[in-house]
Amino acid sequence: MIEKSLSLDIQKIRSDFPTLQQKVNGKPLVYFDNAATSQKPLKVIERMEAYYREQNSNVHRGVHTLSQIATDAYENTRKLVREFINASSEREVIFTKGTTEGINLVASSFGRKFVKEGDEIIISTLEHHSNIVPWQILCEQVGANLKVIPVNDRGELEMEAYAQMLTDRTKIVSVAYISNSLGTINPVREIIELAHARNIPVMLDAAQAVPHLKVDVQELDVDFIAFSGHKMFAPTGVGILYGKERWLEEMPPYMGGGDMIDVVRFEKTTYSSLPHKFEAGTPNIAGFIGLGAGIEYMNEVGIEAIAAHENALLEYGHKVLPEIESMRLIGTAAKKASVISFLLGEIHPYDTGTILDELGIAVRTGHHCTQPLMQRYEIPGTVRASFAFYNTFEEIDKLVEGLKRVRQMF
Ligand code: ALA
Repeated sequence: MIEKSLSLDIQKIRSDFPTLQQKVNGKPLVYFDNAATSQKPLKVIERMEAYYREQNSNVHRGVHTLSQIATDAYENTRKLVREFINASSEREVIFTKGTTEGINLVASSFGRKFVKEGDEIIISTLEHHSNIVPWQILCEQVGANLKVIPVNDRGELEMEAYAQMLTDRTKIVSVAYISNSLGTINPVREIIELAHARNIPVMLDAAQAVPHLKVDVQELDVDFIAFSGHKMFAPTGVGILYGKERWLEEMPPYMGGGDMIDVVRFEKTTYSSLPHKFEAGTPNIAGFIGLGAGIEYMNEVGIEAIAAHENALLEYGHKVLPEIESMRLIGTAAKKASVISFLLGEIHPYDTGTILDELGIAVRTGHHCTQPLMQRYEIPGTVRASFAFYNTFEEIDKLVEGLKRVRQMF
C-alpha cells in the first residue's frame, strides 16, 4: 500500500486555485495537463490585478512615483528568482518571454560569437522542438553540425554514446533536465561534468524541472538554464534565462531597442550592462510581478514537499495505470518526474483524450512538441497525464475509471 498521508494540506492548497473549483462537462475538473501549463493561485492573480489597478506604469523609465513603485515590484522578481535558483548575482537573471525565447537567445547570441563552420552542437532525441529548431537554424546559418544523443527503449539517454560524441569541435551541449513527453529526469550532473572536462558549456531546458524539484545553478555548475513562468503557477509570456556572467558578458545582444542601450549614436551604440543588455523593449511587467508571486507561493508550499507529493502521485499512477487492460506506458525511465505518457491498445490518443474530457479529465494528447521522440518509438503520439502538487490520489482513481470507460467504448 502506497503511503497516502503527506505533509501537504491538499484541500487547503486546492482552495487557493479558483480554476480547480469548477465543473467541466458537468464533472469536477481533474486537471492533469500541468506540463502544458499550470493553474494559477489567487496570490498570483490578485498581485497582477493590483498592479493594473494601482501601480500601472512603465519600468526603468520614469522619475515619477508610480514608475518607481512598478520598477521596484518588477525588479523584486529578479531577486526572488536569483534566490530561487541560487544564482550568484541578479546580473545572471535575464527576463524573457519564456523557455523558447531563452533557448533562442543563447542559440542566436552564443552561436554568433562562438559557433563556426564545422563546429558541433549536441542535443538529445527527447528534446522539445524549442530545444531542436533554434540549434538547427544556427547550424544552417554558420555551417555547423547537430549531434543527437540517442535514447533507449525506457526513454533514458544513452550516456556512453553521449560521452563519445563530445569532441574538440563541440561548442555547446543543450538538453532537457526533464522530458516533457516522458517525464525522464536526465543525469544532468554527469552530462555537465563530461562536457566541462572538455571546457564545453551546457544549457539545460529546465521548463519541466523548476516547478517540480530544487534547481540550484551553482551546485549544478550549469552554464545556462531556461524556464517559463506559466509552468510554475505564474502567468504565460514570462520566463527566465540564467547564464553564467562570464558567458553573458562575452555574448552580443540578442534584440536591439529601448532599455538595452547605454549611448546611442549613428556612428556607434554602446550597450547596457547585465542583465538589461538582453532585455529590449517594454516587458510584460504585470507578468513578471505575477512570477514573483508564483515563486513566493512555491516557497510557502516548499519545493521538497511539492516533490514528495508529486513523487507519491507518480508512484501511485505507475502502480494503478498498468492494471488497465492493454495499457502501454511510453517512458519507463528509472528516474522520472510528474508525467505518465501512455497508449491504450490501438485507440488513438485523440479519442482517449476526447472521452476523458467528457468526464472532466484534462490530459494532453499528441506529439507534445517532440516529433523526433515519437518517431523514435514509431507512434503518432501519446496520452499524457502530468501532475502538480494540487492533484490527488482520488483524481488518479478517476483517470483509471475514465480509461476503463474508454476501453469499454472501443
Ligand atoms: N511544452 C508544453 C507541453 O509539454 C507546452 O505541453
